[in-house]
Amino acid sequence: MKRLPLVLAASAFFAVSAAQAQTVNVICSVQAEWCNMISTVYARTTGTKVNMVMKGSGEALAQLIAEKDNPKTDVWFGGTGDPHLQLAEQGLSQEYKSPNLSQQYPWAQAQAEQSKFRTVGIYSGPLGFGYNPELLAKKKLPVPKTWGDLLKPEYKGDIQVANPASSGTAYTMVATLVQLMGEDKAFEYMKGLHKNISQYTRSGTGPIKAVARGETAVSISFVHDGPGEKMQGFPVETITPADGTGAEIGSMSIIKGARNMEAAKKFYEWALTPAAQEMAAAAKQFQLPSNKNAKVDPRVPDFKKIKFINYDYAKYGASAERRRLISRWEKDVNSLPR
Ligand code: G6P
Repeated sequence: MKRLPLVLAASAFFAVSAAQAQTVNVICSVQAEWCNMISTVYARTTGTKVNMVMKGSGEALAQLIAEKDNPKTDVWFGGTGDPHLQLAEQGLSQEYKSPNLSQQYPWAQAQAEQSKFRTVGIYSGPLGFGYNPELLAKKKLPVPKTWGDLLKPEYKGDIQVANPASSGTAYTMVATLVQLMGEDKAFEYMKGLHKNISQYTRSGTGPIKAVARGETAVSISFVHDGPGEKMQGFPVETITPADGTGAEIGSMSIIKGARNMEAAKKFYEWALTPAAQEMAAAAKQFQLPSNKNAKVDPRVPDFKKIKFINYDYAKYGASAERRRLISRWEKDVNSLPR
């Protein structure tokens, strides 16, 4: 008779240790400080082991396609929405309707709906320019205010942007310009811009970090990446082009065939909560959170003050379109001498 409670205690013990032994493998495509914070806090509060690797959006997509027959990843957290839509289109992410979906802004829900619930928006942020006011003053250069300004010869060698094949930030720029100017004009524009570019970096945040360190005067970046650099004491300001710009819908997907499906869903649900999303600002990241109840830090860009294009996320998130635009960029722009 006395053995029953012991058995119960033992099974409770095993249930707890089984839960503690849960593992989730995450590819994280936001900045390292935010990745590290969610990984540490989630592991500490749930007892789940979090294996996290950091990759830019384009590189993450390439890895997930490469491992599709034997997925090693459970969740892909963050990065621009277009490659998440492509993963969905290729049937490589898991359809999942979150009970938390109704708490998210319409743009985050739209991202879920158009992918047939294979991805979801978790944050948004506008594309614009980063600049180093001290360096601009030293070089007697004005603050660029429009896309057209970046073509002025005085900026030669002083502008950085990432490579659209590896970076979602840079692909957002390509897609934004195509929608703003029409495709042929946008490519003419990017050829002109190419003459002023000192370097195409792998990661989307490379250019604004170079601005912060005074290595280049101007970057094409998500403007929410500015305040975090400024908080570290660097002279960085941001501006959105007066002629209009695009925004990303940073997204999250569960991988089809994930080995740790249950753990993946738990992590995903947690990442949609206000508490998890407020960790971005605590890690000096200032995107607009997707959960309507998450506190919005005053350093998050004010969307009402920005002139946005009507970005067609479905069209520019389609695999064929992204591949076509990137290869045209490689051929028509990147191959040109500077
Ligand atoms: C930064 C931004 C994110 C963005 C990501 C894309 O981390 O803060 O908002 O989603 O870059 O990275 P990538 O390297 O693909 O441009």
